[in-house]
Amino acid sequence: MKYRQIGGLQASAVAVGCMRIAKMEPAALSTFVHTALDNGVNFFDHADIYGGGESESVFGRLLAAEPGLRDKLILQSKCGIRPNMYDFSKEHILKSVDGILSRLGTDHLDLLLLHRPDALMEPEEVAEAFDELERSGKVQRFGVSNFNARQIALLQSGLKQKLLVNQLQFGLKCTGLIDHALCTNTEFPHSADRDGEALDYCRLNGLTIQAWSPFQYGFFEGVFLGDPKFPELNGKLDELSGKYGVSPQALATAWILRHPAGMQVICGTTNAQRLQDICTGCGVELSREDWYALYLAAGNKLP
Ligand SMILES: NC(=O)c1ccc[n+]([C@@H]2O[C@H](COP(=O)([O-])OP(=O)(O)OC[C@H]3O[C@@H](n4cnc5c(N)ncnc54)[C@H](OP(=O)(O)O)[C@@H]3O)[C@@H](O)[C@H]2O)c1
Repeated sequence: MKYRQIGGLQASAVAVGCMRIAKMEPAALSTFVHTALDNGVNFFDHADIYGGGESESVFGRLLAAEPGLRDKLILQSKCGIRPNMYDFSKEHILKSVDGILSRLGTDHLDLLLLHRPDALMEPEEVAEAFDELERSGKVQRFGVSNFNARQIALLQSGLKQKLLVNQLQFGLKCTGLIDHALCTNTEFPHSADRDGEALDYCRLNGLTIQAWSPFQYGFFEGVFLGDPKFPELNGKLDELSGKYGVSPQALATAWILRHPAGMQVICGTTNAQRLQDICTGCGVELSREDWYALYLAAGNKLP
């Protein structure tokens, strides 16, 4: 396993996303979490809305059933999304964290992220909520998700706490974070920056990028691995799989980890064997030639 330093935490580079665990049986979830730990994965990403809260609840029941487990895990959750709106009001943030802690059955979160930018965000109001959460010990560290550079700078301007994380969609079939920079000063369609320079800003300011939905195409529409819609990409993954001696999904993981930003990969699998296989991607250092070959096979162009 590779690790990333996040505010004093030694966080695994492969992390478990808990968006899809709501319907897992207790025994299967226990096996899954222990497989993660056995493979060096210590980081679990939640959100108050996953499974309508049920993802946190099933996880909380596991923590209750296995005393001592909580202390082995880094727990992150997110809040700020409500039906048909986003809400970074102090009241909503505080209430959400109480709900998260109660469902997870823990007295603190290692990290809290604001899930998606709220157009009505007031940094001073968020600051009051963060101060209260830090003072009470309910939340130890803070970050954001799906924020562009200016949105992070604006929020940070009102906070005492340093924002440590930005969670963004990134993977071989979702490369917006890097496309525009590669196409700078061209008329290529990808020269448009749709991510507000989030990548460079995070690197310059020491925020860890967490790549969500790493194996999905589109707005997490489906898995590109093995999908006949993407013959060139899957062909290249199969070819390099032989060269590096790991599976295509491990290579797709290695492709994200190879970026010098030092990202975490937030995997959404609920399958213990698949998670174990994904972790083997940490042992692969893709050559520059192969990294670019995969980028091109995914359907991108270079000027
Ligand atoms: N911040 C945000 O706005 C945001 C948005 C979305 C997600 N997220 C986070 O990112 C995490 C990951 O998202 P995700 O679940 O969409 O990511 P993902 O890892 O790209 O996709 C996981 C899904 O794909 C399936 N899958 C994975 N590899 C496969 C393969 N080789 N063949 C067939 N099926 C495969 C998994 O099924 P199995 O369970 O059977 O393996 C699972 O249903 C979430 O859990 C959440 O924590 C954050």
